Amino acid sequence: MDQSLKNAPIGVTDSGVGGLTVVRELQKLLPGEDIVYFGDGANCPYGNRSREELEALLARNVAFLKGKGVKAVVVACNTTSALVDSAPRDFGVPLFTIIAPAAQAVRRCGAKKVGLLATEFTVRSGCYEKRIHALCPDVQVVAKGSPNLAGLVDCGAFDNAAINAEIFAQVGDVIAREPVTHLILGCTHYPIVEENFRACFPFVKLIDPAREEALAVSIALSAENLVKPAASGEKGRFEIYTSGEPAVYEKVAARLKLTPPDSVEKLSI
Ligand code: DGL
Repeated sequence: MDQSLKNAPIGVTDSGVGGLTVVRELQKLLPGEDIVYFGDGANCPYGNRSREELEALLARNVAFLKGKGVKAVVVACNTTSALVDSAPRDFGVPLFTIIAPAAQAVRRCGAKKVGLLATEFTVRSGCYEKRIHALCPDVQVVAKGSPNLAGLVDCGAFDNAAINAEIFAQVGDVIAREPVTHLILGCTHYPIVEENFRACFPFVKLIDPAREEALAVSIALSAENLVKPAASGEKGRFEIYTSGEPAVYEKVAARLKLTPPDSVEKLSI
């Protein structure tokens, strides 16, 4: 990576508010970094869209962040990460995705029967199984797609009855198929409602891939001497752009106890 980019921001993109769960981990590991976030609320949920639609949306999101002069793009979204994972290519900027780091999280926890709840696109892609089995061939993965949960979270209403009903239905189906000990929260929106998962299935341990993705970013930037240090404890700047509702981003940033955003701007792109 280009050394002159040391003080450039890190770009993070997601279909909506979900990627703020990855920002939470980036802010813990790399507190001095400036972060530019783009959440595509107007087109969320991504998980029920076609490959062609997702290709176009991802290309546009990456182009937007490149226009902000970022040194790397963190694709927080599992759905678009699955897209890139199944057909890797050069975006003209260092790009991080979340599925391979998620497989590291599974290896690290040592589970043998793991549930996966993700969007329908992510589940259909088979990327999780491929990445997990490359690291730990003996792990049994029981996958289920949720067509509704990301949207229920992204609207910002936090309707616990509707959210819990969806979790009961989908995770209940996973457990009916196999007694999994762990559940991968395979969509960035799900850790925002992890308390709902815990309330519904207290005996299932949750795996949030966000930490591992942030760790991969931190390791790569450190290896290239490109980490922007936190000047005398000062936090990096944090800008949010969205095609959706700015108020939902402010609400979720507060819920996740992020460093408060310096700006939240609505875009029509
Ligand atoms: N948050 C995204 C993910 O991690 C997608 C949710 C959606 O937009 O369907 O997959």
